[in-house]
Amino acid sequence: MSAPIQAKSMGTAVSRVDGRLKVTGAAKYAGEFNLPNLTHVFAVTSTISRGEITGIDSAAAEKSPGVLAVLTHLNAPKLAEPKNGEKSGGIRIEQRNPLADNKVYYGGQYVAAVVAETSEQGRHAAALLKISYAPETPALTKEAAQKTEKPKKHLDENLQQKKGDIAAGLARTDITKTEQTYSTPTETHNPMEMHATIAHWEAPDRLLVHDAQQYVKGAQAIIAQAFGLKKENVRVICPFVGGAFGCKGPTWPHTILTAMAAKVVARPVRLELTRQQMFSGTGHRPETIQTVALAATRDGKVQAIRHHSEMFDSPVGDWVEPTGIGSTNVLYDAPAIEFDHVVHVVNIASPSFMRAPGECPGTYAVECAMDELAYALKMDPLKLRQVNNSPNHPMKGVPWSTKHLAECYQLGAEKFGWSKRKHEPGSMKDGKLLVGWGVATATYPARAFRAEVHIQLNADGTAVAKSAAHDLGTGQWTSLAQITADAIGLPFEKVKFELGDSALPFGPVAGGSNTTATVGSAIADAAENLKKKLVDLGADAGKPETFADALQRAGMKSLEADGKFEHEENEKLGFQSFGAHFCEVKIDPDLPTVRVTRWVSVMDCGRVVNLKTGRSQILGGVVMGIGMALEEETVYDPATGLPLTRNLADYHVPVHADIHDIEVHFVGEPDYKFNPMGARGMGEIGITGAAAAVANAVYHATGKRVRDLPITPDKLM
Ligand code: MOS
Repeated sequence: MSAPIQAKSMGTAVSRVDGRLKVTGAAKYAGEFNLPNLTHVFAVTSTISRGEITGIDSAAAEKSPGVLAVLTHLNAPKLAEPKNGEKSGGIRIEQRNPLADNKVYYGGQYVAAVVAETSEQGRHAAALLKISYAPETPALTKEAAQKTEKPKKHLDENLQQKKGDIAAGLARTDITKTEQTYSTPTETHNPMEMHATIAHWEAPDRLLVHDAQQYVKGAQAIIAQAFGLKKENVRVICPFVGGAFGCKGPTWPHTILTAMAAKVVARPVRLELTRQQMFSGTGHRPETIQTVALAATRDGKVQAIRHHSEMFDSPVGDWVEPTGIGSTNVLYDAPAIEFDHVVHVVNIASPSFMRAPGECPGTYAVECAMDELAYALKMDPLKLRQVNNSPNHPMKGVPWSTKHLAECYQLGAEKFGWSKRKHEPGSMKDGKLLVGWGVATATYPARAFRAEVHIQLNADGTAVAKSAAHDLGTGQWTSLAQITADAIGLPFEKVKFELGDSALPFGPVAGGSNTTATVGSAIADAAENLKKKLVDLGADAGKPETFADALQRAGMKSLEADGKFEHEENEKLGFQSFGAHFCEVKIDPDLPTVRVTRWVSVMDCGRVVNLKTGRSQILGGVVMGIGMALEEETVYDPATGLPLTRNLADYHVPVHADIHDIEVHFVGEPDYKFNPMGARGMGEIGITGAAAAVANAVYHATGKRVRDLPITPDKLM
């Protein structure tokens, strides 16, 4: 690992370097590149959830104005069979090529595509297609599941784990025990920017793709594999992303479909999914059913934790929501711990990564269970958590690299005014409104993958660094430039970072909150290599003011260096971020809509590279957690299996009026055992525990324990 980077720009609240481009509309998103001769494709989705296509009458569609081609399973180009994970070099959740055959596995699956001169012409012609089906009764529930499995691993982690004697732990007579089942509905990513793809075959073996992506290198690899191309002959570009939350990490069928359409019409093709299509084609957080049993001695020390999770996957999917791994695995230690994951395969589109997959629904269940245990023990719920704050990773038994959760609890309690809380439910009022205060722990692992970075230092004292990383709105355009500036020793204003293009050196998926750690580590390596070269030219590595002189003396306009980083597991330490959420709700007893009126989050994520964008990440996570607690739910029609709540009128997310005061604070220290910046990722931790803090506050206000999200007014009547 490179030496720690001295922080000058890191730790400040620099504004986004791309802010002006975004607010003026100058930033171009994937669907906005107007290539010459551009055509448009409209994807047609199945109206059944299981069965076969028996016929497609495309005569009227083909004659419709502007139509260039109608693609179906009967005429679509045949592609290589999908490979996932390391075999492909990308992330492919749906294990099926679009239009591969006449089988339908879920409602909303692409069954045809119409290419036309304009998107309106394509959409109109799509409505003229007559598709007949032989439908079968879809499996939509756990009881009707096509199969139920207990997979061993997901993304290299063991899904079924235990330590100690759980049965004995739960059977002790000297303990207080709680056991309840919590459920979370399907939730669907709703970034402002729809998924969009523009595919342009520049030559028979060379493809240019603009794609809304969290992983340009992954998309490059998957497209290359599907079409039998050399990776370097596929270029995927995505400098700006209008939000993603995980849905733009995998490469989905619509991206491949667009490249296919472009091949067929031999012109550039643009596709933009509709909001409705984003409810079946680009992943979601699956419904979970989690049973958590806790047992503690009278002093609150947890003695046994059993966490049983059930969730859903599609017949063509490759996804397990790792609820136990993301929560019970890391939250509290106990002599006996067990968690397991059961997957039901149903005819619903593939679930996938959604902000803190596993951690988010997992911490919801466990943090509600902890609140129930606190009430069973007649103990303050914050105190229960303080008593169980463990210095070690519960399952690995190793110490945490750094952990400042105690300060999160303490500072949060002070800022929130927790000491004024009355313990009994229904005991706090504001006029006629019921007031509830809830607390929950947040946690997210510190992840890092692999990256390469190229730096060019110019004789005028400026520098440009590059990697195929991404900025989903997280602020990486800015924070990676800050890291580069500090790593070289230049002022922030003199440094640019370039990202979002597969032609750049390797960058990882913008997922798992890893970008800062991974790309930052490669920046540190590149900067060290650059400084070695500068020393060879006679510069003083510790004095950046000597760099430009050294280049000029050597007659060089610029000097370049590469760096790379690949994460290696450290078996001796656990790397994890923690935090605490404090939430106030106010509820009108006559019409029990829940208002979240006040919020304090305190996070320990190691070094915060950018205080402004970092705060935004936590704040955004909390807003999404409030949505999860009170509003979000994807409902499927029990008859057809099609998503019913497939627009922003029926699928509710928080609006400004739903969100009141949210305070974000940071504590802790740079985690230099993790990387030279000391930074652990912040994109996802904000949502973890957030829904539990709301649910616990609702219980405190009303005495009603709603264990089934979202907490809509009907559940409180
Ligand atoms: Mo995040 S759900 O790992 O993009």
